[in-house]
Amino acid sequence: MSTKRGRRRKKPLPEEPIEVEITALSNEGRGIAHVDERTVFIDQALTGERVQFKYTRLKKDIAEGRTVEVLKASSLRIEPKCKAFGMCGGCSLQHMSSPAQIELKQAMLLDQLKHLDVMPDEVLEPLLGPEYGYRHKARLGVRYVHKKEKVLVGFRERNSSFITETDRCEVLHASVGEIINELAECINQLEEKRTIPQIEVAVGDDQTVLVFRHLEILSDTDRKILSDFCRLHSLVGYLQAGKPDALELLYPEKVEPLYYELPEQNVRIEFQPSDFTQVNPEINKRMVSNAIEYLALDENDIVLDLFSGLGNFSLAMARRCKQVTAVEGSLVMVKKARDNAELNNINNVEFFYADLYSDEVLSAPWIKQKFDKILLDPPRSGAAEILPTLKKMKVKKIVYVSCHPATLARDAAVLVKQLGYKLTKAGIMNMFPHTGHVESIAVFEL
Ligand SMILES: C[S@@+](CC[C@H](N)C(=O)[O-])C[C@H]1O[C@@H](n2cnc3c(N)ncnc32)[C@H](O)[C@@H]1O
Repeated sequence: MSTKRGRRRKKPLPEEPIEVEITALSNEGRGIAHVDERTVFIDQALTGERVQFKYTRLKKDIAEGRTVEVLKASSLRIEPKCKAFGMCGGCSLQHMSSPAQIELKQAMLLDQLKHLDVMPDEVLEPLLGPEYGYRHKARLGVRYVHKKEKVLVGFRERNSSFITETDRCEVLHASVGEIINELAECINQLEEKRTIPQIEVAVGDDQTVLVFRHLEILSDTDRKILSDFCRLHSLVGYLQAGKPDALELLYPEKVEPLYYELPEQNVRIEFQPSDFTQVNPEINKRMVSNAIEYLALDENDIVLDLFSGLGNFSLAMARRCKQVTAVEGSLVMVKKARDNAELNNINNVEFFYADLYSDEVLSAPWIKQKFDKILLDPPRSGAAEILPTLKKMKVKKIVYVSCHPATLARDAAVLVKQLGYKLTKAGIMNMFPHTGHVESIAVFEL
């Protein structure tokens, strides 16, 4: 192969496309075929299709490939909206119709649960939201490509560190997604165009922020180019030379903090661009409301919110119950969550710092409190470490929000088989359309 990817390999991959029948779809949405007794996982191929593919990886028992031509298409195939689809690592399912994506994600969740023999009594209707322009958070890579004599801005290519060449991004909020080309041209005009590694995007309810990370001091001319760009596109611009939170406001001269609202609970959450916030605000609003409904909160409930971040669930739940204890592993987030409680005039929530993966929780001040209900929203690695501690609490209901079905299933098996809970409900939420990420929610009851 004469591409840069090919040159990196010791053994060149076969050049000739190979024709195969796709017999199944893998968990991440790749077509499965069998060639020479090897299983091949093929990007952009659907079950029942006949495709030509080229190898992108070839090992003894396993191989990966990418579709180069579809000879017989599935009825589930649609034309991807993005021209860079296939190359860009941002999306992997744009060739599948929306119902097929949802079905795939639901199967991914249910397969994991079934594998560990913990099926829910009720499979929830998938929570659906906008399919494009939904993404309010992103870290865009920036690179000056000498050969092309220009700057590229975007997500990384699939399985590579190169930046995808693209004019626009369909899943990113339109205020940035529609001007990727202009953004790249703007960076291209800078004297320091080679030393801007990334641009962080954060969209709040009333403003879009770009944080330009820079490795060298920027001249006045460069600063003016960036600030003119922000003015022209009604964006807020920050410079970031050091730590993620050490931001220098570039444009405009004064600005209000970023925020989003949860209207049903009358909560406003302020955040900084690098803080964790749920990427899809439409789904987030309904996810928070659904979690409150599944917990069946009332004014007597005392609730524990673990992995509480900026207070997304805690503050909303505090409006519907007696008291919330929220625990989070980042001190900075705990401080911001407390500020958010004050901002909302919410006095029945207490935020604590703790590493929920360590034994230090055993001596935490909140551990001996009595709780009625628990909300869990861990990172991808799940909540296994904290589950033995929950055993003694014997709460009536647990709502578990997960961004990784495998760890959810693993933890569900512990909750059901060791802690005696019933898995009463589980379902997916389409937080990340067109990507392989699966967000789900599960309800456990004693
Ligand atoms: C998926 S986010 C959820 C945040 C919040 N519930 C929300 O909806 O915005 C997971 C949170 O877990 C926190 N976290 C990660 N590792 C942790 C740990 N070991 N102990 C406690 N919190 C941790 C992260 O800082 C992050 O805020």
